[in-house]
Amino acid sequence: MHGTIESAATLDALRARATSLPLEQFDPGDPELFRTDTFWPYFDRLRREDPVHYCKNSMFGPYWSVTRYNDIMEIETNHSVFSSASSLGGITIRDIDPDLRRESFISMDPPRHAAQRKTVAPMFTPTHLDNLALNIRKRSAECLDNLPRGEMFDWVDRVSIELTTQMLAVLFDFPWEDRRKLTRWSDIATTIPGPDGLVATEDERQAELTECAAYFSRLWKERIAQPPKSDLLSMMAHGTATRDMDAKNFLGNLILLIVGGNDTTRNTMSGSLLALSQHPEQYRKLRQNPDLLDSFVPEVIRWQTPLAHMRRTALSDFEFRGKQIKKGDKVVMWYVSGNRDEAAIEKPYDFIIDRARPRTHLSFGFGIHRCVGLRLAELQLRIIWEEILKRFDHIDVVGEPKRVYSSFVKGLEELPVKIAA
Ligand code: HEM
Repeated sequence: MHGTIESAATLDALRARATSLPLEQFDPGDPELFRTDTFWPYFDRLRREDPVHYCKNSMFGPYWSVTRYNDIMEIETNHSVFSSASSLGGITIRDIDPDLRRESFISMDPPRHAAQRKTVAPMFTPTHLDNLALNIRKRSAECLDNLPRGEMFDWVDRVSIELTTQMLAVLFDFPWEDRRKLTRWSDIATTIPGPDGLVATEDERQAELTECAAYFSRLWKERIAQPPKSDLLSMMAHGTATRDMDAKNFLGNLILLIVGGNDTTRNTMSGSLLALSQHPEQYRKLRQNPDLLDSFVPEVIRWQTPLAHMRRTALSDFEFRGKQIKKGDKVVMWYVSGNRDEAAIEKPYDFIIDRARPRTHLSFGFGIHRCVGLRLAELQLRIIWEEILKRFDHIDVVGEPKRVYSSFVKGLEELPVKIAA
């Protein structure tokens, strides 16, 4: 059952299986390994013994796993062989039903990719971000000032979801009172339907995404009728590469921006508090010297790796590290593994908030698709931690976190915390 929290003995047994299981039976993309946080030793063994690994059978069909840091960078930069195209299945281990595929620039190859990316890039320039920072700080302060003292609450819901949703509402100039719809649509876009999922069936999932499309179509029409403004919707409605997008492409890009800006930052906000609570000596260091936020923020993004992987599809046969990848094969680049590769990162299993080179990580990807929103993500995390450190001496994690059932979005569903009265 996805909802249960296992005993320590069960979790140890799951981790121990990584040592005894034959490599050909490895299926590191199994979401259950992520929900139970037991996937680490599987990737450790793959990096050591079979860094480019083929899984014949899984709930997502057959796939290759690329697990070493430098190998991931090589696949990321070889666009002529490794495609992101949605028509081939897109960028996640799970193929989307061909009838339901929506295009967005994350799942496009050159040259179309560059033209659409360029349209939203002005949103993320330093000058534009400076303007956004004031708004983000004001809202973060309000959110933190309203937190309960001396009683348990869920950090994910009260802080991580609320603040990332507010940021998105500002980015899209989305109706404020409806902003939690953005959270819901983001969750729906990435959920796996099933008895324990957010929706039971793919039909239900599609119905909600259609509602999302209808809502945004209304906003889109409003923006077209208005002079260009600096929100993302207006930029797309007036941009030369995006204004004539068909409905599928329009919804695809919207969902990309909603999911891109929502799940990832949300889960890093939750992961940052959990990481500090698991490493009290680092929490002390940060409280004593808030200037360390400069390196703390990228370190926590590495530590959390909020997107565990991105996927590509081979456009031709290709021999890689002695393995024969065939045209049409699915190739999964496990950032979560590359970020613990000791050949690239010193002491990768240590959480060190004053690392010498904290930006050596793969959490934002690499190459032409490298996250376009990364400065915004870092900015938001920085602001929230500046405001937290000003207000609270300590925030205690007081229960087990509940993790997301997904091997794509690596995150927390619940994190019970308490702030001293
Ligand atoms: C691309 C991670 C925050 C929007 C990506 C990619 C990764 C990533 C791994 C690369 C995809 C690939 O190579 O196929 C993250 C993480 C974030 C974050 C870890 C936070 C900690 C954001 C934010 C936004 C955003 C705040 C916008 C509001 C995008 C977009 C792309 C992208 C639009 C597609 C870029 C392209 O294809 O050229 N992100 N992201 N992301 N991200 Fe982020």
